[in-house]
Amino acid sequence: MKIIKLHDLYFKPFICSTKLKVIVKNLVQQVTDDLPENEVPVFIGILNGCFVFASDFIREFERDCEISFVKLASYQDTTSSKKVKKLIGINQDLTDRTVIILEDIIDTGNTLQEIYNIFKNENIKQLKVATLFFKPSVFKKELHVDYVGKNIEDKFIVGYGLDYNELGRNLPSIYQLTPPPKMKNIVLFGPPGAGKGTQADILKDTYNLKHISTGDVFRYNIKNETELGLLAKKYIDAGDLVPDQVTIDMLKDEVDKNKNVNGFIFDGFPRTESQAEALDAFLAEKGEKISGMIALEVPEDLLVERLLERGKTSGRSDDTDESKIRNRFNEYNTKTAVLKNYYQAQDIYFGINGVGAIEEITQRLLDVIDTL
Ligand code: IMP
Ligand code: MG
Repeated sequence: MKIIKLHDLYFKPFICSTKLKVIVKNLVQQVTDDLPENEVPVFIGILNGCFVFASDFIREFERDCEISFVKLASYQDTTSSKKVKKLIGINQDLTDRTVIILEDIIDTGNTLQEIYNIFKNENIKQLKVATLFFKPSVFKKELHVDYVGKNIEDKFIVGYGLDYNELGRNLPSIYQLTPPPKMKNIVLFGPPGAGKGTQADILKDTYNLKHISTGDVFRYNIKNETELGLLAKKYIDAGDLVPDQVTIDMLKDEVDKNKNVNGFIFDGFPRTESQAEALDAFLAEKGEKISGMIALEVPEDLLVERLLERGKTSGRSDDTDESKIRNRFNEYNTKTAVLKNYYQAQDIYFGINGVGAIEEITQRLLDVIDTL
């Protein structure tokens, strides 16, 4: 889950669909426990917001019940020129019935007040109110709310039927309003020899970013025998892959250590789609997101030439054998392809021509990053 934008506002993940299921289940349990065995309640959902919640609620409710929906419409009273609320959609006799209102959210309680006013004229047996969400700090009424799924703080939420100017109702989870992301977070990619390190150094100074090279982070943690380092070492020594969660936790530490930067350059991570998702989720918790994936593109033949040249002086064994070099490219291309698709789907993939003088390439990078 990641930060989303609806109209002009940003929202971060707040309550996932699995947790919503539990909340609804508990609510149904409470309502059921209070109902006499042979009572057939009439559930009345207040549209539009309640439609998702109501549909999950009644399917969880195991006894006989009726369900109806109403909408509160405000209309102009032509005689008094006042705004008046009226219910549309009630067309059944509710005399002597137990009516349970299903609300998605109760905020100030103004809507609930209208509902109480309207239903007090029907000769119903009892009126109860079940709401998925309740904002206790803004509720100003003396009215009774019988069942609350979850109390939440006074922050605007969307999803699971709730909208912001009609958008967001179809989201399966609940998202909470958050300030616009402030950071520039870049996933930097480049095949061996593309000059990624050089460019990352320039970018980090230009934008005050922290360059997080996963390889360096691993080596640091293992060398300093941090808790996570020791954990990672256990997997490595056993010949196993270090689980994504361990790597993510190391990155979290690194991010938390650097509070005064304008963002991060992630280098060497993510490498798989599930790692990309984990990174999104972690940034979303902070109200931040990946601004873009940037890949330096250089033709392979040119890279081979560069690396063989470097191998002559550096003595790096993996730089002296052309077939080994080609293997590294294949590995790189396979891994990048997956992530390219992932970020392209979000419209934040940028391929940059990596051939030319260092300053030229830097300029191409700056041109893209400035727009993020
Ligand atoms: P009231 O303030 O209790 O009358 O709530 C009025 C209506 O405002 C609710 O039925 C919702 O449709 C809407 N509303 C209140 N808070 C939120 C929110 O956080 N997200 C989306 N809609 C909300
Ligand atoms: Mg509503």
